[in-house]
Amino acid sequence: MEGPRVAIIGTGQMGSAAARRLVGLGYSLVLWNRTRRRAEELGSSIGVRVASTLEEAVGHVEYGLVFLLDDDAVAWLATSLPRSDGLVLVNHSTNTPRMSIAVARRLEALGICYVEAPVIGGPHTLEEGKAKILVAGESRCLRRAASILRDLASSIVETGPLGSAMAAKLAYNMVLMTSLAVLGEAVLLADSHGVGLGVLGEVMRGTPMESLSKYLARVAGREDPGGARMHVAAKDLEHAGRALYDSRIPGPVSAAAGNLYRIGLASGCESYYYGATAKILQGCRGSRIW
Ligand SMILES: NC(=O)c1ccc[n+]([C@@H]2O[C@H](COP(=O)([O-])OP(=O)(O)OC[C@H]3O[C@@H](n4cnc5c(N)ncnc54)[C@H](OP(=O)(O)O)[C@@H]3O)[C@@H](O)[C@H]2O)c1
Repeated sequence: MEGPRVAIIGTGQMGSAAARRLVGLGYSLVLWNRTRRRAEELGSSIGVRVASTLEEAVGHVEYGLVFLLDDDAVAWLATSLPRSDGLVLVNHSTNTPRMSIAVARRLEALGICYVEAPVIGGPHTLEEGKAKILVAGESRCLRRAASILRDLASSIVETGPLGSAMAAKLAYNMVLMTSLAVLGEAVLLADSHGVGLGVLGEVMRGTPMESLSKYLARVAGREDPGGARMHVAAKDLEHAGRALYDSRIPGPVSAAAGNLYRIGLASGCESYYYGATAKILQGCRGSRIW
């Protein structure tokens, strides 16, 4: 028997991981991506059809799962979708709360049930079904999305009214990405006095910093665990800045960290793991930025 019909909208790292997981669970998928070639490569590797248009992608499915990069992409989606009564659109992108709320209003007018559902965990975690998903939305929409969310995640956290799941996800990423920015500086300071990563890990062991020690080799650019690239961190902290502004809260620390990731993008680190922050300071093309 054919499983639930699902359109995967956006076949970057996260959309591809979700597609691989759901096809393995027997879902009937169709893929759509702005750059069709990327969707075709994925489609041919997992035996899934690629839609030529967004309209075709959502035309005959019960769920649309969205994995687009940023607010601009999701705003474009919301203004491009046709009326699709009965469709449940689950937005797994990391967006600002304001954009997510605006999208929900627009989609309601198109007969679409909207759930915001940003993901904590990278593509490997998502593909293995071990991600945590934060959810917010109207309860009738949450109920309809519950079974597919359970198939995607090992943990689901209801955060409150619309906008709150995006706020919680941005808050989480602010802590992680700002911590990795300063960890990069710490690694370079230690190294300049002959303190290697092993000793620094030893210093952190048994302290509240221990959980960060798994990132030491990653910030130094010596280990790439896969997952988000530098443009995702730059975007997340830029969106966190917008969300702080919307709430009239200053964000000097996360803004500084966000600028570091943007320097990474501007100086040849765009293909690096997002947390390779000491690498940004050393220069990914071999020339230091200071
Ligand atoms: N990677 C992670 O570890 C991770 C973890 C948790 C959450 N997330 C979040 O998940 C979302 C997707 O991340 P990702 O890592 O999969 O990013 P990605 O690999 O860069 O993929 C981005 C996707 O967005 C599409 N896109 C970008 N700009 C667009 C636009 N203006 N209009 C239409 N489509 C557009 C891209 O299409 P093209 O192929 O045409 O460029 C691609 O399908 C992001 O919101 C990210 O913050 C990522």
